[in-house]
Amino acid sequence: MNKHILTGQTLAFTANPFETDWNNAFEHHTHGAVLIEGERITDVGAADVIRTANPDAKVTDYGDALITAGFVDAHMHYPQTGIIASWGKQLIDWLNTYTFPEESRFYDPDYAADIANRTIDLAVAHGTTTLTSFCTIHPESVDAFFTAAEARNMAVVAGKTCMDRNAPDTLRDTVQSAYDDSKALLDKWHGRGRATYAITPRFSPTSTPEQLKVLGDLWAERPDVMMQTHLSEQLPEIEWVKSLFPKARDYLDTYEQFGLLGEMGLYGHAIHLTEREIARLSEIGASVVHCPTSNTFIGSGLFDLMGLSKTQMRIGLATDTGGGSNFSMLRTMGATYEIAQLRGEAVHPSQLLWLATEGSAAALHKTGEIGRLAAGSMADITVINLKSTKAIAQRADRAETLWDALFPTIMMGDDRAITATWIAGQNVHASPSISTHLSP
Ligand code: GUN
Ligand code: ZN
Repeated sequence: MNKHILTGQTLAFTANPFETDWNNAFEHHTHGAVLIEGERITDVGAADVIRTANPDAKVTDYGDALITAGFVDAHMHYPQTGIIASWGKQLIDWLNTYTFPEESRFYDPDYAADIANRTIDLAVAHGTTTLTSFCTIHPESVDAFFTAAEARNMAVVAGKTCMDRNAPDTLRDTVQSAYDDSKALLDKWHGRGRATYAITPRFSPTSTPEQLKVLGDLWAERPDVMMQTHLSEQLPEIEWVKSLFPKARDYLDTYEQFGLLGEMGLYGHAIHLTEREIARLSEIGASVVHCPTSNTFIGSGLFDLMGLSKTQMRIGLATDTGGGSNFSMLRTMGATYEIAQLRGEAVHPSQLLWLATEGSAAALHKTGEIGRLAAGSMADITVINLKSTKAIAQRADRAETLWDALFPTIMMGDDRAITATWIAGQNVHASPSISTHLSP
C-alpha cells in the first residue's frame, strides 16, 4: 500500500478539554509527522522517528504549518450557498425572502449538482472535510449532494428536507411522499461509501403532525440512520411553534411526541431551551449543534456552550451556511469564542478546535473515524498556516505557546490559512501560495 508522510507541527487531542484540564488533553510535536497508508492514518509522532521507520514513504513537508484533524461541519444547508450573506432579515422573514425562492430551484438536477460541487469545493478550501447538510424537498437535490461527495470520497451526512406546510407550493411535499422519498433515498445512500443518511424534517413549523409522525415511524424502522432538524433558534419561532402545537409541553416535545427524539438526533441551534428540554436532551444523549455565525447574523441569541457542555448532550459545531455568514470553521470557532464572551465566559482555543473536530465527530456518532489525528482514523486532515496574513503573523510572532500561536488564526483566519486539505488520504486542496517539498 502507498505510504505517505506529512511533516509539520502535529496537534492531536488525547482527551476532551471540556472534561479534562486542557493542558493534559493534547499531544503536540513541533517536528511531527503523520503517516498515511491508503485512506487511513497509521501513525502520528516525531518526524525523525516516523521517517526512519518508513524510508520508502513519499514525504510532503509542510514546514512549520500545523497539521490537525480535518474540520467537521455538523449542520449546514448546501442549497443556500448562493444566498449566503443576504441582508436585513431575521429567521422567518429570511426563510421566506431568500431561502425558499432559492431552494425552489433544486428540482433541476443540473443546478443542484452545480451548487453541490461549488459548496464542497468551498468547504474543502476552508479546511472542512465533512459536511452535514440539509438538502431541499427534491430527491434530485439529495442525489446531487451525495454524488458530489462520493466523487471526492468525502464523509457526509445529508437528507431530503421534508416540509408539507408553511412553505410555497414549489417547496411542499406531502405526508406520503416525505416518507416514500426519504425511505428510497436512505436505502440508496446510507452506508454507500462514506455517506450517512439523516431523516430531515426541516423544523416543526413546516411539517404537519402527520408528517412528523411518519418520519418518526421511518426512524423507528431504521434507527441506524441519523435524524436532523432545528430546535429553539429564535424567540418568534418558538412562539409560532407554541401556536401550531398548543398541546406540546415545549418545542422539543413537538419532536418527542412523534418519535423524533433520539440519541442519533441532531438538533441545530438549541439556544432558548427550557429546563425540561435540557434534561431530556441530556438524558437521551442527543446532539445539539452550535451555529454561532448564524446566531449573530440572523439575530437568534447566545448559545449556552459552557452550561450545556456540563450535561450529557453531545455538542457539535457548524457553519449553518447560508444562515451562517461564513464557510470557514476557523471563523466559526472565532464566533464561538465571541458568543461565550458575551455570556461572560472564555472558551480556550483547545476547546474551540476540539469542538470543530472531535466534538462534531461525536455529535455525528463518528468518534475515532473522523475528526481525529490518530492511527486508525480516516486520513481527513487540515494543514493550517499560522501566519497566513501580515496581521496574523505579527501577532503569532509574539506567541510563546502553541495555543497562543493558533488563537490569532482562529480569530482572524480564513481560507488563506488553509495550506492543504486531505480527504481519505488524498490531497484534495492545496493553497496556491505554498510550495511543499516532495521526496523521494
Ligand atoms: N430553521 C428552519 N429552516 C432553517 C434554515 O434554513 N436556516 C436556519 N438558520 N434556521 C432554520
Ligand atoms: Zn439550519
